[in-house]
Amino acid sequence: MRHLIEPFDFTVAEIDKILDLADEIVKDKEKYQEACKHKTLATLFFEPSTRTRLSFEAAMLELGGNVLGFSSAQSSSAAKGESVADTIRTVCCYADIIAMRHPKEGSALVAKNYATVPIINAGDGGHNHPTQTLTDLLTIRREKGRLNNLTVGFCGDLKFGRTVHSLIKALSRYENIDFVMISPEELQLPGYIREDFFKKNNITFRQYERMEDVIGELDIIYMTRVQRERFFNEADYIRLKDSYILNAEKLKMAKPDLSILHPLPRVNEISTDVDSDPRACYFRQALNGKHVRMALIMTLLGINI
Ligand code: CP
Repeated sequence: MRHLIEPFDFTVAEIDKILDLADEIVKDKEKYQEACKHKTLATLFFEPSTRTRLSFEAAMLELGGNVLGFSSAQSSSAAKGESVADTIRTVCCYADIIAMRHPKEGSALVAKNYATVPIINAGDGGHNHPTQTLTDLLTIRREKGRLNNLTVGFCGDLKFGRTVHSLIKALSRYENIDFVMISPEELQLPGYIREDFFKKNNITFRQYERMEDVIGELDIIYMTRVQRERFFNEADYIRLKDSYILNAEKLKMAKPDLSILHPLPRVNEISTDVDSDPRACYFRQALNGKHVRMALIMTLLGINI
């Protein structure tokens, strides 16, 4: 039985296969409309979500399967003090596969240890968000036609942004990725990514404070929201929340074929005057999330058509 807890749970070849299947599903939707008939996905969301939960549910429904679950800790027995382990042991009695989001780092690993069905980490605290990473990889491949030879800028909250941590790990396995980090000092990548990951694997990256100093070099800019829910005090959040705002004016400095990605939700970091720019990929990215989750569900359930 396979799970997806962190980006390295799949090899590059396995990821390529999932992305290929996502493309195939889009080309021939009818072929897959009953692929998961009689199978049930449980979505256990202890933290808010729009895209991840709903795209998982839409994915399973479009594959002919069923969905059940909860969208907040308050509407589950976690509010009465139930542990993740007991919740998982229970839900395994009702579902064939589980997608779980939880505010605590490592919670997905705990879930996996108690599960008798595949577990998908839909975000564990500031740690990992591997299905967003699959979404991002599919988006980059669809927009650029490749996953290598790219200059990729990550901008905003690189400290708490779990989508950034997961995507960095995933991209590090492709050739000739020039990693560019753009953040205020207080929101730089956490030590475990800088030291234990980049340094140990001999991967270099460039660090900038001003977006304007490097935007012209980028093939991809991955914008992120400052993660209010992970700050210890509100004053720090308010001081840092508008550190970067990408707008039409700043885009004049960018390459004509820049791809602008954002895992969403956005707050202020991309001005709405960017939305109509063909370089804005973030809503296409949200759609890609459904396609790649369809492919992931089929893969983890071992369904081949
Ligand atoms: N990208 C993402 O995880 O969005 P949601 O928080 O809406 O699921």
